[in-house]
Amino acid sequence: MFLRTSALKSLSSVSHFGIVSRRLASNKSLKDTIEEVIPVKQAHLKKLKTEYSDASIGDVKVGNVIGGMRGLRAMLWDSSVLDPEEGIRFHGLSIPDCQKALPAAPGGKEIIAESMLWLLLTGQVPSAEQTRELSRELAQKGTLPSHVESLIDSLPRTLHPMTQLGIGVAALNHDSSFQAAYEKGMKKSEYWTHTLEDSINLVARLPALAARIYRNVYKPGTPLPEIDPDLDLVGNYARLLGYGDNQDLTEYLRLYISIHGDHEGGNASAHTAHLVGSTLSDPYLSYSAALFALAGPLHGLANQEVLRWQLSMLKEVGEEVSHDAIREYLWKTLKSGQVVPGYGHGVLRNPDPRFIALQEFCESKPELLNSPIIQLVKKTYEVAPGVLKEHGKTKNPYPNVDAASGCVLYHYGLTEFKYYTVIFGVSRALGCITQLVWARALGLPLERPKSYSLEAIEQLAKSGSP
Ligand SMILES: CC(C)(COP(=O)(O)OP(=O)(O)OC[C@H]1O[C@@H](n2cnc3c(N)ncnc32)[C@H](O)[C@@H]1OP(=O)(O)O)[C@@H](O)C(=O)NCCC(=O)NCCS
Repeated sequence: MFLRTSALKSLSSVSHFGIVSRRLASNKSLKDTIEEVIPVKQAHLKKLKTEYSDASIGDVKVGNVIGGMRGLRAMLWDSSVLDPEEGIRFHGLSIPDCQKALPAAPGGKEIIAESMLWLLLTGQVPSAEQTRELSRELAQKGTLPSHVESLIDSLPRTLHPMTQLGIGVAALNHDSSFQAAYEKGMKKSEYWTHTLEDSINLVARLPALAARIYRNVYKPGTPLPEIDPDLDLVGNYARLLGYGDNQDLTEYLRLYISIHGDHEGGNASAHTAHLVGSTLSDPYLSYSAALFALAGPLHGLANQEVLRWQLSMLKEVGEEVSHDAIREYLWKTLKSGQVVPGYGHGVLRNPDPRFIALQEFCESKPELLNSPIIQLVKKTYEVAPGVLKEHGKTKNPYPNVDAASGCVLYHYGLTEFKYYTVIFGVSRALGCITQLVWARALGLPLERPKSYSLEAIEQLAKSGSP
């Protein structure tokens, strides 16, 4: 049994909004485990529909409508909930809970993508053997179809890696099981199984796709190794990128990709996947659309921007950086009308626990603590919240995960920061495909909110119309 007693104790005491229902892991396959949970969730949804459809869970204010729908309780997303103060919980488990409970790779310590994916999809903690089995399945399905290889190889090296990733993921829909079954005419009750099949294939193929883009853009002509059937998803990804010998970087990527995999439903990429999926577009098309949302600088591109910004700070103030020099640089950024990348958040109102987890990873490695770029991130964290508070605009003056993520990659030699959002893209698939599977299993409808013109909103507001 993988779970240690302390982990079990903390797990059994976890309950968030009363949504956690978890049994200890069995030896069932991922699909069988999901199949077992589906009737429970369907019954729960039915109860909500019949007993609470007319209950209000908050008003829609004009401020919500013209303010990017902030705070509007308008989505069902079962795998994670983001609390403004304490951060993310995956089926009720905080990041430290997951670090205690979720299986790592053989010989490793960090959570791996497979155990996080299992938790997200089923609400249950997998056993080490179930996790290994999923790793084997992903490795076996991980090779790219040759038409996608040729497509990616034909793209100009100057095309942003995120654009290439979105194109590659969309092209994978050539082999969509969902689409083929839909054309033949399948029952609604079968939607989820084909969505799951596509989703697992998608997750399995992301490392080969993302690594091919990296090699084409930054290391043209270098041979891509084959997928190793004995490695986990991220172990293979690091290997395909050419960093398989660096165990510390591989472990870092495992942690980063797992804890970044899901951040409830309202963030732009997750919401996009959900919206597009609600039209019954297959998981490849839905996730491709999500990737183009992730490619925006206010969302996933922030990790690239953080590094650009920190490096230009380093260039300007030199390696012996003082708090005063950082403060001055922060003010210069703000006065020029730019945002401080890696700080602020649409929901969080405290330092992001994902940032804390990445900082703790650095603190466990003396080599990282001595790295100038990582020291700079740490010192910036000591100064930036004070400056942002004084600046007085952002509702959250604290760092988000991106304040730290790219700098660690940079230290380990993965210095091509235009590529960093692609790694985020490999990660965020975990949460997005989970929701796609569950949206089909629960029969969630086409998403279609009501919109109004400026004039109509003003009239509605004046009349106080419900
Ligand atoms: C993440 C982010 C987009 C959230 O936006 P938001 O929900 O609108 O944030 P707030 O409500 O706190 O914004 C209020 C104001 O503070 C500003 N603000 C927010 N974060 C800021 C930052 N890091 N630096 C400077 N100003 C910031 C906003 O631009 C906005 O200004 P405006 O009134 O002139 O439009 C925003 O904090 C940001 O741009 N951060 C930097 C980019 C980043 O790190 N993104 C990754 C997110 S995980």
